[in-house]
Amino acid sequence: MKELWWKQSCQKVPHLVTERPGPKSAALSAKGSRYIKGLSSQVKLFPVCFEKGHGITLTDVDGNTYLDFSSGIYVTSFGHCHPKISEAVAHWAGTLMNCHDFITPVKEALVEKLAAIMPGDLNAVQFYSDGATAVEAGQRAARAITGKHEFISGYRDFHGKTMGAVSCARMARADVLSYGPSRSAGFYMVPRPDPYRPLFTKADGRIDTDAYIDFYQEFIKEGTVNNVAAFILEPAQGWAGSIFPPDDFFPKLKALCDKHRILLFADEVLTGLGRTGEVLCMNHWNVCPDIVTLGKSLGNGFPVTAMIVKQEYADVLEEISVSSSYGGNPMACAAALASIEVMEEENILDNVRAMGDLFMKRMHKMMQDHPIIGDIKGKGLLLGLELVKDKSSKEPFVQAGERVYQKAFTKGLAWIPAGHILRMSPPLIIDEKYSMLGMDLIEESIAEVEKEFGY
Ligand SMILES: Cc1ncc(COP(=O)(O)O)c(C=O)c1O
Repeated sequence: MKELWWKQSCQKVPHLVTERPGPKSAALSAKGSRYIKGLSSQVKLFPVCFEKGHGITLTDVDGNTYLDFSSGIYVTSFGHCHPKISEAVAHWAGTLMNCHDFITPVKEALVEKLAAIMPGDLNAVQFYSDGATAVEAGQRAARAITGKHEFISGYRDFHGKTMGAVSCARMARADVLSYGPSRSAGFYMVPRPDPYRPLFTKADGRIDTDAYIDFYQEFIKEGTVNNVAAFILEPAQGWAGSIFPPDDFFPKLKALCDKHRILLFADEVLTGLGRTGEVLCMNHWNVCPDIVTLGKSLGNGFPVTAMIVKQEYADVLEEISVSSSYGGNPMACAAALASIEVMEEENILDNVRAMGDLFMKRMHKMMQDHPIIGDIKGKGLLLGLELVKDKSSKEPFVQAGERVYQKAFTKGLAWIPAGHILRMSPPLIIDEKYSMLGMDLIEESIAEVEKEFGY
């Protein structure tokens, strides 16, 4: 990797100077939450207030510096405030902030770059400003391309919080209250293969991918009105807890889609641009989707997302207006272009693969040593540790997940809980020392929680 620009600020991390969360965090959090409603469980379980981020660290208002295993929320993948990316945004913030969907030099350079790094002929692009809106654009594109209107997605997928996006995700109680007691018409969900909790297994107990595909085939025939435009899926499930399907799943699903003239829509908002060690997570399986959405890492913190379809469908996309207030504004395009250049110049993908291997080795050992670690998951730096009450019953251990989250945060690790699955998504620039240091904090916390619960 190129010179590590963030190392200087990393002499002593974590660096803890008050209790966590400290008194200033407590006061600010009390003030802010009088008005800000609906904070995530992540914040409610650990109400710290941050004021600075640099590379792989976050600093709170009390002056405590944390090692970051969250990348914001899978967003600041190339490091908080990467100088090249921040300077690119600052340049356009002082030059041209918005000119609707007119083409600008920086937008043109970005689409050339995207076309060059996407697999196959994925090169017809529209820009938006959040993941959900890009997903909705992909849904419009799928309907226009196929002339069909139904969508199939997977149990526990997440695609954002607008009406179309939430219709292809699990309806949590809050969604039901706010969106009404059903998803939009024509949206269906099917079980997707989770190797640790398979629904369909072979005689030897291993997951049976073919049985899932056979079920989908049957479902298309019997459960839909035979008007399916697309399967819309996360290649690996981020929110559900870093769950990867078996390697033969997407090649087989693509074949099924092609047989039924159904598009494969890979929502790579969370996984795209290096998170799993490939530009697209789908590249792991050599499957080129028909539609892709990108977000999060794309702007390294600046809100920019993209919806991309194959060249053969470009004419149809021409009919769907890309016009939006913020999509593809010069600052957004500059952030995305600089992020992709950083990914290439700093050999980020190599680093992600190498660090991912180290994490998996470490987690393997931890699973052997700890009675409450039922499973480990991951590719690259999209990682998960699944906590269970008992390894044979696999009963999810949610209380342990929350306690481990709080304990490790108190020890100086900023990260993301997912109930009983501990999710790790450090910045993709992280090195071996800090990768293992973060895992030390997690392992110490797991050991303490095991003791508390009498293991
Ligand atoms: C796979 C996936 N798609 C879409 C979204 C929605 O993105 P946004 O929050 O930017 O609307 C997310 C957000 O976490 C996501 O993980």
